[in-house]
Amino acid sequence: MYRLAPSILSADFSQLGAQIQAIEEGGADIIHVDVMDGHFVPNISYGAVVMKSLLGKTKLPFDVHLMIEKPDQFIPDFVTDNTEYIVVHAEACTHLHRTIQLIKSYGIKAGVALNPATSLSVLDYIFEDLDLVLIMSVNPGFGGQKFIPSALDKARELKKMKEERNPNLTIEIDGGISLKNVEEVMEAGVDMFVAGSAVFGAEDIPQRCRDFQAILKK
Ligand code: DX5
Ligand code: ZN
Repeated sequence: MYRLAPSILSADFSQLGAQIQAIEEGGADIIHVDVMDGHFVPNISYGAVVMKSLLGKTKLPFDVHLMIEKPDQFIPDFVTDNTEYIVVHAEACTHLHRTIQLIKSYGIKAGVALNPATSLSVLDYIFEDLDLVLIMSVNPGFGGQKFIPSALDKARELKKMKEERNPNLTIEIDGGISLKNVEEVMEAGVDMFVAGSAVFGAEDIPQRCRDFQAILKK
């Protein structure tokens, strides 16, 4: 099952509730929540308060992408009834195994994100513990960047690892996804597709979600 995960980083925050309704109406599967601390990435976005303002306003689950240093101390803030995944960056965790176990201790699915230059080999000894691996197809920090093609090779390699070692793993991709490249990315083995500017930059947001779903569901 392929899932569409619009990133609210590109939403109009002055009307976040309405924007969430728009993606829900268009058939989005999960809300991608980009949290940036100005240290791990050169940008600051928003924190748990903004995410929690959506509680009770949407049935969609949250996919929390923490682009922050030392995530352990903030993980409990992001545990809510809607939180399906919490994803940390391998590059930001000194004790990645411990962090994964911490996320799972709350009954939340655990994911690890890898920057474009980071090898899959960093996952070797925790691979069976993971519910999700997020392949960054841009350098994290900003929406609206160009897709880095080497992410496709990484996705194919990860798909092989998944089949051999962890068949229930979800492969997620994030950055530069559009209606033009989503099909090629699907073919590389990706299950879950983050799209920020491609969804919220559209004039008709529900229709843009339906356009994505028409490709993902065929
Ligand atoms: C980038 C974020 C992405 C971003 C994607 O650091 O992790 O989720 O919002 O935006 P687009 O789809 O515009 O590349
Ligand atoms: Zn993201």
